[in-house]
Amino acid sequence: MKVLVIGSGGREHVIAWKLKQSPLVTKLYCAPGNAGTIDSAENVNIKADDTSGLLKFVEDNKIDFTVVGPEVPLEKGIVDIFSSKGLKIFGPSKAAARLENSKSFSKDFMQKYGIPTAAYNVFSADESSKAKECLAEAAYPLVIKADGLAAGKGVIICSSHEEAAAAIEDILESKVFGSAGSSIVVEEFLEGSEASIFAICDGTNYVVLPSSQDHKKIGENETGKNTGGMGSYAPAVKVVTPEILEKVKKRIIEPVLQNMKNDRAEFKGCLYCGLMIDKNGDPFVIEFNTRFGDPETQAVLPLVKSDLLEMFMASESGNMDKYKLELNEGYCCCVVLASGGYPDGYETGKQISGLDNISDDCLVFHAGTRTENGEIVSSGGRVLNVVGYSKNSLKEAINTAYENAEKMEFENKYFRKDIATKGL
Ligand code: AMP
Ligand code: GLY
Repeated sequence: MKVLVIGSGGREHVIAWKLKQSPLVTKLYCAPGNAGTIDSAENVNIKADDTSGLLKFVEDNKIDFTVVGPEVPLEKGIVDIFSSKGLKIFGPSKAAARLENSKSFSKDFMQKYGIPTAAYNVFSADESSKAKECLAEAAYPLVIKADGLAAGKGVIICSSHEEAAAAIEDILESKVFGSAGSSIVVEEFLEGSEASIFAICDGTNYVVLPSSQDHKKIGENETGKNTGGMGSYAPAVKVVTPEILEKVKKRIIEPVLQNMKNDRAEFKGCLYCGLMIDKNGDPFVIEFNTRFGDPETQAVLPLVKSDLLEMFMASESGNMDKYKLELNEGYCCCVVLASGGYPDGYETGKQISGLDNISDDCLVFHAGTRTENGEIVSSGGRVLNVVGYSKNSLKEAINTAYENAEKMEFENKYFRKDIATKGL
């Protein structure tokens, strides 16, 4: 089968790497891809949000199956567009993708169906004063979120009334997140341990992949600014015990699938549950994403033994109940190598070396790289994802990731030194 992966980050590189192992795949493309995806796929120079360009490519080249990595094409309805033409594609419809791209939709949905999440209020663009009036009685910290897609930057944790009032003005009045901030969700701050759970769904049935944890802050011990993610590890067995996973299935995943179906927006694709597990071991939803997480996927997919294309096809065709998920034993730790200065200003175009020197128990997925005159150079804030694997322990996986992270070189390389230690 001819398969296309849409996207250009580390998540798409690991998806392409894993799809390449499927005996069903005869030809793999990645649009637009990066300097790493070239090893598994042929890169096609079409941007991930260019839905008409992607449709034309798929029709012209008779692509049998398309896999969507990032959220923006889902919000643009790429799955509806492709499905209406009879083309097979992995991911949710535009209506189902609202679980990620509208936080107010997602919160109202959870409240309506009793899915555990933080208490909240929604305010629209003309309700800035009303939102600020409500702050007087609020408890702090308080969380303020832009309603729409803001590339992970739309969440502000406010420790005081003043900070909260400023956040409301920034989003609703100054429109710092553009149309993504046309309304806001103001919600209670949850305490506990965060975890990410990916459920691959076909509208009714699902399989759950190994749990993981992301490290969102730029600095060690979760300090400094939020980023797209500085590292991850899987499985997160200390945080997500089998008992907690059962609660996640019964209280979150199953009611989501049932009620989305009842509401005529059946959910197919990867339901990413961003969770807070409280001190009693009860899971609360921080957010849903309607696609794989980055960089969690880089630590999760190497632990999947069974065929990834078959998994995606089962989701698309409504046959998830017949798919047998098989896992590899062991642990993965993913360390993100970033450009110095990220998540603020940083330089690109830095030559990367050491990529041919990695050990057998390590995988390197590219995030922000491109080829220039035959050399691989940086092209983004997050540059490489170094994934250490160990059959025996998370500790060994961490050591492998860091030994290899030291071997990669580019000017102003920066990485956190404490990835996955909270899993020990
Ligand atoms: P989100 O984009 O909604 O996942 O939020 C980004 C990060 O902000 C999350 O990973 C959490 O660390 C934090 N966060 C968001 N909402 C809450 C909340 N209600 N309570 C505590 N932390 C939160
Ligand atoms: N790892 C967070 C995200 O993909 O949104």
